[in-house]
Amino acid sequence: MKILSIESSCDETAAAIVEDGRKVLANIIASQIDLHAKTGGVVPEVAAREHVLKMIPVLEECLEKGGCDWDDIEALAITRGPGLISSLIIGTETASVISYVKNKPLIPVQHIVGHIYSNWLYEENGEEKSEPEFPILILTVSGGHNELILMTDHHKFKILGETLDDAAGEAFDKVARILGLGYPGGPAISKLALNGDAMKFKLPQAFLEKGSLNFSFSGLKTSVLNATKKVVGTMDEKYKADMAASFQEAVVQVLSEKLIMAAEKFPKIKEIHLAGGVSANKRLREMIQQKLNIFNQRFDRKIIFRHPQSFNYCTDNAAMIAAAGYYLYEANPKKFKKKTNIVPTTSFEIW
Ligand code: KG4
Ligand code: ZN
Repeated sequence: MKILSIESSCDETAAAIVEDGRKVLANIIASQIDLHAKTGGVVPEVAAREHVLKMIPVLEECLEKGGCDWDDIEALAITRGPGLISSLIIGTETASVISYVKNKPLIPVQHIVGHIYSNWLYEENGEEKSEPEFPILILTVSGGHNELILMTDHHKFKILGETLDDAAGEAFDKVARILGLGYPGGPAISKLALNGDAMKFKLPQAFLEKGSLNFSFSGLKTSVLNATKKVVGTMDEKYKADMAASFQEAVVQVLSEKLIMAAEKFPKIKEIHLAGGVSANKRLREMIQQKLNIFNQRFDRKIIFRHPQSFNYCTDNAAMIAAAGYYLYEANPKKFKKKTNIVPTTSFEIW
């Protein structure tokens, strides 16, 4: 079954065609990074206007790349939220019109659930990995969201912990701004950190009260701000690299430590998944794998660690929306019909 999906929740206009929830036939992403780099962040109206311009060309390219015409597409999937409302509207309206005109069922998908399903994807010519096995412990690390989630079956989630203030990606973006590294901050910080000394600055790691699976990164961000204020005017490349490395290390330590703490609390889990934009971070992947190896050895477990197979599936993309949509549709096909009344939402709630 081929699903065509659209994602426009923030600053990427994206469309994809995915077969049976896993095999990616086309994954087109029109990034607005250059546009938003000028303002150091996303201006919602500017993003929405760009979605209007890019949506049709992206859809056309997607069908061509996937070697499909509309008759080959069985259903549509669309990000309903959370995200920027003006950006979401462009996607939901487009999907509604296609659903009506082409007479296809339309499946609304929650954006973070989409990120979770990025670990089911593989490229058309890539290696098909085994299907993930439940229960799965998931760390979602995005620009807007940061959660620890227990997934017991398809679309069955329990939130174990979440950020109390900034999300991990948001912290990367804000610290990058403090260091004058531009937007988006995550890739810039991780690149610079390669040349930095992660032990140079002792930054706070917020573990919160004993046993807590929640996160807090705003104190860490403030520490970077206070330290950097003292070197205004004299901040050189060495300082920036050392601060980037020290900051990244503090974030990665907390994220990986809490993930392993959660693994101890839920002894039945078979897999650990990392999802969302920050899952592109190599140091984070490395540290989780290291800690998991020790954990597996210590408790004689065989928990598998997965992160998205392609960097294109880490940050916002439509393939993940098609994957999530497929498993919703498969469970209850009659529920999804031709639809023109998808109302976008900014709420995180998983419906
Ligand atoms: O999931 P995503 O594309 O958008 C949201 O749903 O929020 O995540 C975007 C976030 C940005 O904050 C960006 O700085 C971060 O992911 N990011 C990274 C890396 N690549 C992207 N953070 C750390 N290291 C990276 N390599
Ligand atoms: Zn996202």
